[in-house]
Order: sequence, then structure tokens, then C-alpha cells
Amino acid sequence: MKKSFNRRHFLAAAGSATVVAAPAAFAAPTPGKSLKIIGISCSPRQGMTTAAAVQEALDAAKGVDPRIETELIDLGGLSIAGWSPKPPEDDFVAILPKLQDPAVAGLIVGSPSYFRGFSSLCKAFIERCAPLREPRMLLDGKPVGAIATGGFRNGGQERVIDEIHTAMMCFGMVPVGGRPPAFMGGTLVSADDRIDGDELGLTTARNTGARVADFALLRPGAGGKQ
Ligand SMILES: Cc1cc2nc3c(=O)[nH]c(=O)nc-3n(C[C@H](O)[C@H](O)[C@H](O)COP(=O)(O)O)c2cc1C
Repeated sequence: MKKSFNRRHFLAAAGSATVVAAPAAFAAPTPGKSLKIIGISCSPRQGMTTAAAVQEALDAAKGVDPRIETELIDLGGLSIAGWSPKPPEDDFVAILPKLQDPAVAGLIVGSPSYFRGFSSLCKAFIERCAPLREPRMLLDGKPVGAIATGGFRNGGQERVIDEIHTAMMCFGMVPVGGRPPAFMGGTLVSADDRIDGDELGLTTARNTGARVADFALLRPGAGGKQ
């Protein structure tokens, strides 16, 4: 006999499953304290075009308000395994406390486009961020901007941004695009491992950083832009 499974059954089943701990209810920043925006470069190549693009975004974020502090975490050359029940004592261990700091007001995550998707390092990093969801959703309500570099125009940069946004939404983060015309985020094209010739791309990176700062300042308790 065919079983009927209607919306009421679905909601009842969903309600019986504990998925994650309750949200942190937009843990408010301490008034007068600095707001930290952390940029993460998820290229396996240290200090290359993705790191440069994320740094550009961070510099723009810093320029929005004197209370904004920034830090770049370049994952290039680090060893970070994906999530597993017993993750190894790898380089992620030193990164986690930086992300757990209550001063963190927003993130900018950058990845190269690898076959039209984000890097496996980016995926591994985000998986390992699972402790930021339990027992409290530490990133809940905080803005996240995304930056993608590629060797080609239309090389999958917007897909990479989508992947980053979608993953970070699992942390309760609010994806923001950039100030126009960076509607999705930072989209850059490298040439000979350089992005300094991509003026439009650099503008999208800067405008993404500025937008993350705009939204960090808008959060309850942040005090708005001065
Ligand atoms: C395995 C691999 C796959 C790549 N796939 C793409 C791609 O699909 N689209 C694209 O535009 N560039 C692609 N690239 C080029 C990189 O995205 C580009 O060189 C990027 O700027 C590298 O970032 P990095 O300088 O921070 O390492 C690929 C590079 C590698 C190594």
C-alpha cells in the first residue's frame, strides 16, 4: 500500500531531529570595540593571485571605518584535511581560535576556480569549520563575501562564489555581494599569475570588501558607520 507523506508528517519528522544547536541570536559586538574582518585565501599556492585579491578586499574593508581591523589567513602551503570523525592535528588547529574570536564581524573567503568549482582546500577548510556551528552558531548573522580568481574570463568565478555563499549559509552567515558593479562578489582573471592588469576585477574585490564592512557595521550593537 502506498504511504502518504504530507507536509504535516514532514514537519513532525523534521522537528524530531536535532540538527544543530540554537543560533547565537546575533551575538552583538561589544560597543566601542574593534570589528574584525578575516579574509581566507583558499589557493594551495601561497601569496598568489587569490591571496592578493582577498588582501585587496580586506584593504577596502579597512578603509570603510576606523574600527574595522583585518587579517589575512593564507591557506597556501598549509595542510588541512577535510572533516572526519577524528580530524588530524593539522594546520587547521591554529586557525580555529582566530575564527572563534567574538571580535570577528565578517569573513571574506576567496578561492581559485578549479574546473569551474572551488578548490578542494576551500572545501576542506569549510568542512573543518564545523565546530563554529556547535554548540553555538558563532558566525550567525555575520556577513560573508566571496572572491573567485580564474585563469579565464567566464572561467567559473560566479559558480565558485555561489559555492562559497551556499556553504557559509550553513553557518548562518549572510552572503553579501559587493557594492555595484560587483553584484555577486569579487571576480578576477589572472594573466601570467598576476591580477594587477585586471582593473575591473580588482574593483569587484574592493567593492566586496567594502560591502562586507558595510554590513558588519549594520549588525545590532555595531554602532553603524561613523
Ligand atoms: C587544477 C586547476 C584547474 C583550473 N581550472 C580553472 C577553471 O576551470 N577556470 C579558470 O578560469 N581557471 C582555472 N584554473 C586557473 C586558476 O583558477 C587561476 O590560475 C587562479 O588565478 C589561480 O589562483 P592562485 O594564483 O591564487 O593560485 C585552474 C587551475 C588549476 C591548477
